[in-house]
Amino acid sequence: MRGPLVYLNGEYVPYDDAKLGVEDRSVQFGDGVYEVVRYYGGRPFKMDSHMRRLTRSAAGIDLAIPSTSEIAGAMDELVRRQNMPEAAVYLQITRGETARVQGIPKNLKPNVIAIARPATSARPASGIAIVTQSDDRWARCNLKTTMLLPAMLARSRAERLGAQDAIFVRDGFVTEASAANVFIVSKGVVLTPPLSNYLLAGCTREAILELHGANGIESREQLITHADLLDADEVFLSSTNGELRPVTKIDGRPVGTGEVGPVFSRTIALFDAATRQLVVV
Ligand SMILES: Cc1ncc(COP(=O)(O)O)c(C=O)c1O
Repeated sequence: MRGPLVYLNGEYVPYDDAKLGVEDRSVQFGDGVYEVVRYYGGRPFKMDSHMRRLTRSAAGIDLAIPSTSEIAGAMDELVRRQNMPEAAVYLQITRGETARVQGIPKNLKPNVIAIARPATSARPASGIAIVTQSDDRWARCNLKTTMLLPAMLARSRAERLGAQDAIFVRDGFVTEASAANVFIVSKGVVLTPPLSNYLLAGCTREAILELHGANGIESREQLITHADLLDADEVFLSSTNGELRPVTKIDGRPVGTGEVGPVFSRTIALFDAATRQLVVV
């Protein structure tokens, strides 16, 4: 088999047998929503938050989806069947297949796809470099849709410039990175932009705010300007797949001392303790 087992509309099928039609709406329009859930020790991290966000994303594009317990159960089952305790499970729900029309035809049958791949928590020895870029995405970035071209182009531009990721700036304010939320540390306080339609409500972001709250680390949701980002003592990114990544260079200039900072180190220790809890219970 060329790849992992695929969950497709209620069945677990070999990779090579899992097919979608050429007129699936995701192929023609990027018409679908998705999630990615990280499994630690065979148990999902923040599944409820992911399922709540999936429900919001689907409602935001008028897409009726199967029950979230069915979807979460399918993701668990993929991990179990492949004995893959450390995994990232991608779930996509497309609007389904139909002759190409621009409007949204009624009574389409969504296609539900999930694929698990092994994940590691291997940590880079140093921080990453990012570039800033104007946020040219649409105005509903709170929905996790499969329409990812602007994010891909931003990542690709960052890589061409020798960086690993891009942080978007809209009207002078930081929104998020191409596939992660942004935190800065300024004068001892951790800041992250407040939720809005211009950024995704990250499940990892939520976990960090909870961990900080429970452990006496002062953190606030607050607008962050481009200048705040460049002046920050520390910057880090959060996402399911990348977990927490320190940023030590922005647009070629060092962040703070240019080294991974103490707030990041404390935060990732708390995060590791939280995910390890899933492994040991
Ligand atoms: C645009 C964007 N923002 C933020 C995130 C982080 O969200 P989460 O922590 O739920 O993975 C992602 C994750 O893919 C993303 O694509």
